Amino acid sequence: MVKICCIGAGYVGGPTMAVIALKCPAIEVAVVDISASRIAAWNSDQLPIYEAGLDEIVKQCRGKNLLFSTAVEKHVAEADIIFVSVNTPTKTRGLGAGKAADLTYWESAARMIADVSKSNKIVVEKSTVPVKTAEAIEKILTHNSKGIKYQILSNPEFLAEGTAIEDLFNPDRVLIGGRETAEGQKAIQALKQVYANWVPEDRIITTNLWSAELSKLAANAFLAQRISSVNAMSALCEATGANISQVAHAVGKDSRIGPKFLNASVGFGGSCFQKDILNLVYICECNGLPEVANYWKQVIQVNDYQKNRFVNRVVSSMFNTVSGKKIAILGFAFKKDTGDTRETPAIDVCKGLLGDKAHLSIYDVQVTEEQIQRDLSMNKFDWDHPIHLQPASPIGVKQVSVAWDAYEATKGAHGICILTEWDEFKTLDYNKIFDHMHKPAFVFDGRNVVDAEKLRQIGFIVYSIGKPL
Ligand code: NAD
Ligand code: UGA
Repeated sequence: MVKICCIGAGYVGGPTMAVIALKCPAIEVAVVDISASRIAAWNSDQLPIYEAGLDEIVKQCRGKNLLFSTAVEKHVAEADIIFVSVNTPTKTRGLGAGKAADLTYWESAARMIADVSKSNKIVVEKSTVPVKTAEAIEKILTHNSKGIKYQILSNPEFLAEGTAIEDLFNPDRVLIGGRETAEGQKAIQALKQVYANWVPEDRIITTNLWSAELSKLAANAFLAQRISSVNAMSALCEATGANISQVAHAVGKDSRIGPKFLNASVGFGGSCFQKDILNLVYICECNGLPEVANYWKQVIQVNDYQKNRFVNRVVSSMFNTVSGKKIAILGFAFKKDTGDTRETPAIDVCKGLLGDKAHLSIYDVQVTEEQIQRDLSMNKFDWDHPIHLQPASPIGVKQVSVAWDAYEATKGAHGICILTEWDEFKTLDYNKIFDHMHKPAFVFDGRNVVDAEKLRQIGFIVYSIGKPL
């Protein structure tokens, strides 16, 4: 029986390994983590992350060929293939702070693998890492090898949160990069065989190590660039009377461009887009390519501009001050169908409004009060170092309260900001909400989810992203 061990039981490690266990009954999969609370949650009925379909898979496989454990060294020692899916946050201090990837967690995992291994291993980079990381990992492993042979593969993950299981079942592609030596190719084939249990062969792409590492950063940069492009256009739409939904539709009809990922928004969030682009920018700078670095930096700058623009619009429309006014925040997660708040645009928008002394009443379908308090009291980039080690320190400001539903959040409010596109925000009883708000009652729809015309008929003043008033 092939044994797989995955170091890191997070958003990627957990679902990815659960699907491998489901699709490959002949493989024994151990998911290990240094966080005892995370492992305990994986072993409970309340999994640490919410993904449609995940619960059923874990229930089906856990205790058979899938286990979650804190016995990191034991399972690493026993495995044939080791996936490393630890967090790779942005460095907060030292060389490259604010841009470069912090590989502390990766390096400590690699050193531990070298310490405990007693047989040859295939080590798979599942985390998103800077191009050439495999070279560094190889050095750590081979210089501490005690005669053991390691093959390093790059197998970046392309799943999106909220659709993780669907993406894992039906990936657009699986990418495997390895050394162009006979041993490297053999390792690629071994990993390919795992995926071939359910992924059609023509969707499994094999490349050299550096192409695989860079393709992941490039894919995220291209995706984020599309959102910044449509968001930049949304500003121009507001200035000219064009409608961003119509423009995006017309542009997306070109089969060379395509219709997906063209929704204007308050800005993109999530744990990876910003981190990976900053990382790409840093790599370009280190390789003496400042023009390329500046090109990609613009994607982040437009995203920051979009979030600021949203806050400015709220404040300026509400007679240039929100001081002491109650603003309902509907949605805090970085996108719908997840409870994840990492780099959510809601954090910047809330901090911007708090800076203008607004009182916020926040409601999200999935995110807990503790998480919201923690996010609003944390410094930029601190969130991924890592979250479970940082106790929530409530900001203790009377300015923020967390509501249990949208009606409670909006009661007595002067304005509503919709920051996540949760489906339930489309079907709220806006007549009832209007009746319980101060007038004029404002709606700032940061996701273009409500029917602005209908709300205007009720009496709301509605601002949508990239649409005429
Ligand atoms: P995460 O923070 O949810 O999980 C990482 C886990 O690794 C944590 O539970 C942490 O405790 C554990 N860990 C850290 N160091 C460890 C060590 N030495 N030994 C054992 N466990 C250790 O992160 P994530 O969202 O799963 O992301 C992991 C990687 O995958 C990142 O590089 C990210 O860029 C990439 N990625 C993420 C997504 C996504 O949707 N979240 C998608 C594709 C790729
Ligand atoms: C993204 C990529 O889609 C995945 O392929 C990748 O594996 C992952 O990053 C990663 O490397 O972490 P994710 O961040 O989970 O996945 O979610 P997306 O659906 O890409 O959304 C990211 C952000 O962009 C969200 O805030 C979303 O609301 C926003 N977005 C997305 C828009 O504003 N407009 C769009 O048209 C699409």
